[in-house]
Amino acid sequence: AIDIAKLRDLTGYITFDPGFKNTGVTKSSITYLDGEDGILRYRGYSIEELADKASFLEVAYLLIHEELPTQDQLDAFSADIQSYTQVNQDLLKISDGFPVSSHPMCTIAALVGAMSAFYSTDEAGDDEKSVLRLLAQLPVMATWSYKKSIGEGIVQPDTTVDYCSTFLQMMFAKPGEIYTADAVVSKALNKLLILHADHEQNCSTSTVRLVGSSHANLFASISAGINALWGPLHGGANQEVIEMLEAIKADGGDTDKYIAMAKDKNSGFRLMGFGHRVYKNFDPRAKIIKKAADDVLKALGVNDPVLAIAARLEAAALSDEYFVARKLYPNVDFYSGIIYRALGIPTNMFTVMFAIGRLPGWIAQWKEMRTNKEPIGRPRQIYTGATSRAFVEIAQR
Ligand code: ACO
Repeated sequence: AIDIAKLRDLTGYITFDPGFKNTGVTKSSITYLDGEDGILRYRGYSIEELADKASFLEVAYLLIHEELPTQDQLDAFSADIQSYTQVNQDLLKISDGFPVSSHPMCTIAALVGAMSAFYSTDEAGDDEKSVLRLLAQLPVMATWSYKKSIGEGIVQPDTTVDYCSTFLQMMFAKPGEIYTADAVVSKALNKLLILHADHEQNCSTSTVRLVGSSHANLFASISAGINALWGPLHGGANQEVIEMLEAIKADGGDTDKYIAMAKDKNSGFRLMGFGHRVYKNFDPRAKIIKKAADDVLKALGVNDPVLAIAARLEAAALSDEYFVARKLYPNVDFYSGIIYRALGIPTNMFTVMFAIGRLPGWIAQWKEMRTNKEPIGRPRQIYTGATSRAFVEIAQR
């Protein structure tokens, strides 16, 4: 137990809030989130409407430039991004130096960090070119590590098609092949990226803002965000969900056994894709994704047995006292992996897809932090070690 009186003597009054469960660190006008009622809005627009009607670049523009673009503004924004898709070839050499077995999150974090070695950044924090380069080049670099993992050469982006179709073309075309992305696949990817585009002060976004608060450049800050996203408790959960569902399937599909394990604190097992720091009734993104998973699988004629296991697991968890009492509901990543898989995206690329989707949000949050001239982030601590000890010479220890 914490001795409050002693603490006060040591540090004065400070807020003790491990995991920042109840600490507001900024004022932001980007994303509105009501965890009790399951509401999510980007700059006031509902996530349901944006996912249904907008393109990913339209949403990226909204997040970064605060307003929905006119057609002319969107055309100019898309053309600007397309004009930056040629990545410096020395970055490709760096990518080639990674082992084939490298997790693509490791590769893209390193490459985005390395971008600051190649491109100048604006100290004042107003780097429009860096923003465009990141939006243009992250998907390109993401496909490099996939191509390498399957022993294929890279594919240059086709800048005549939309953002999602370009990504699919770089992933799935053979070098030199003319490739047209399936419209169903491209539309589904567009929806998934929009649903992931921002989520206020989550772990990776807070990381981007914290790193940027020392006036580290945009590339360095986004690279740190990618690393934060990789963890299984955050973006890495989408990969873990599919692996968990596969393991349940291989184990005979006994979902009750895994529910029991998740409830046993000594098992070390959590139901991946369940629970959220801020949603305590439902995650609105999960609702949209669940429906999209049904639609996509039907449209593509895919019969994925893990979808049935996921539905059974969800139903069992939602009627279980443990999950009800703790308000644990499926989160955005419970069903996203099933869609990614149906679209042909390999499991180890799932979290990379999340990073591509979250990029506009990270950029918008970084810009807001710099524009508002926020101070350097520097949390306090409660020291629990020895107060004062006499140094002991090494020979006497
Ligand atoms: N399975 C089983 N029990 C769980 C789960 C789970 N997935 N999530 C939380 N709990 C339990 C905890 O053991 C704890 O129980 P207790 O009160 O008896 O000790 C209680 O629910 C509260 O959990 P916390 O870990 O304190 O909640 P927190 O807000 O810190 O964590 C988190 C949220 C990290 C998302 C957590 O629910 C989790 O680990 N989920 C699985 C991983 C996952 O899906 N992450 C993706 C999040 S969404 C995203 O990043 C896009």
